[in-house]
Amino acid sequence: MTDSHESVESALKLVYGFRSTQVTYVVAKLGLADQLADGPLTAIELASRVNVKPENLGRVLRLAAFFGVVAEVPGERFELTSLGRMLGTDAAGSIKATAIMLGEEHYGAWGSLLHSVKTSEPAFEHVYGAPFFDYMAAHPDVQATFDAAMSAGMDVMLESLGDAYDFSGSRLVVDVGGGNGSVAAMILKRHPQLEAVIYDQAQVLAAAESYLTAAGVRSQCRLVPGNFFESVPEGGDAYVLSNIVHDWDDERALRILRNCRAAMAPDAVVLLLEAVLPEHGSPSVAAMADVNMMVLLTGRERTEKQYAALLEAAGLRLSKVTPIWARESLIEARPL
Ligand SMILES: C[S@@+](CC[C@H](N)C(=O)[O-])C[C@H]1O[C@@H](n2cnc3c(N)ncnc32)[C@H](O)[C@@H]1O
Repeated sequence: MTDSHESVESALKLVYGFRSTQVTYVVAKLGLADQLADGPLTAIELASRVNVKPENLGRVLRLAAFFGVVAEVPGERFELTSLGRMLGTDAAGSIKATAIMLGEEHYGAWGSLLHSVKTSEPAFEHVYGAPFFDYMAAHPDVQATFDAAMSAGMDVMLESLGDAYDFSGSRLVVDVGGGNGSVAAMILKRHPQLEAVIYDQAQVLAAAESYLTAAGVRSQCRLVPGNFFESVPEGGDAYVLSNIVHDWDDERALRILRNCRAAMAPDAVVLLLEAVLPEHGSPSVAAMADVNMMVLLTGRERTEKQYAALLEAAGLRLSKVTPIWARESLIEARPL
């Protein structure tokens, strides 16, 4: 292939990106990886198991084979590849919930990215008629997929968090906007002496109840419903905010941080887990999360300087930033 062919191929791969999102979505939504777990099947066999039309399913599976999700084997059968296995419900590091979440509301909202650019409004609200978290509160199935997707594939990141901060001197961790409790569960498993408060909206705490029970740490946790714009539970010596501050514009992010500052003792710590944007001039995967915050919410990813300024306005001093994973960093802050 000549250079110009290669650049056309790369350019086309870029603009056709949405097709791989929708093909992996269909595989995930129909549970095809689970059906193929015991061995290859034809499109007709698969279609009858998941109650769809075999002709079109077969054609989509051939595209899934092009993307490396399945492979075609003799007898017009399809078998799972190692990539496809990650779309299985019980696969280690399963990305099934992520593929469903991205193929549904995220896909719909990103389809109106141009709206966000023209108006500075979240595309999500324009398309779905309600703010992101309010919409999920009214759609429990969407909420459940989101909660599962938030912890999907995060084991490696969570282990790195456990290495990056020593919780052995802490007694009570408050996981602010703790979601299904996966971050708290990792910390509690490493430190059985610790207790944790999982603080989130009431409708999210059901997911935390089952996740923490399955993780064997439920007895070390209190599940507290509430609104972090109003207050945050007192008494913690570590306030963990994992992917919280980036959801909000500066004004609302400040309200959350000020509430943490008001609740914490002078020797307590605030631990933010976020994708830190590099200063201008270095391409970064954090830009992906930044635009996602623009599309879904009023939030943004921030540079270290922007975090330092935001924390200072909340009465906190940024004391350390530790990169802990491909995308995330741990930002430590203490009362000024
Ligand atoms: C991006 S998720 C992060 C979840 C979890 N910390 C994690 O990293 O997996 C944001 C969380 O903030 C919670 N949240 C949103 N608005 C909230 C509010 N006003 N008060 C408390 N929690 C809220 C959501 O329910 C959700 O669980």
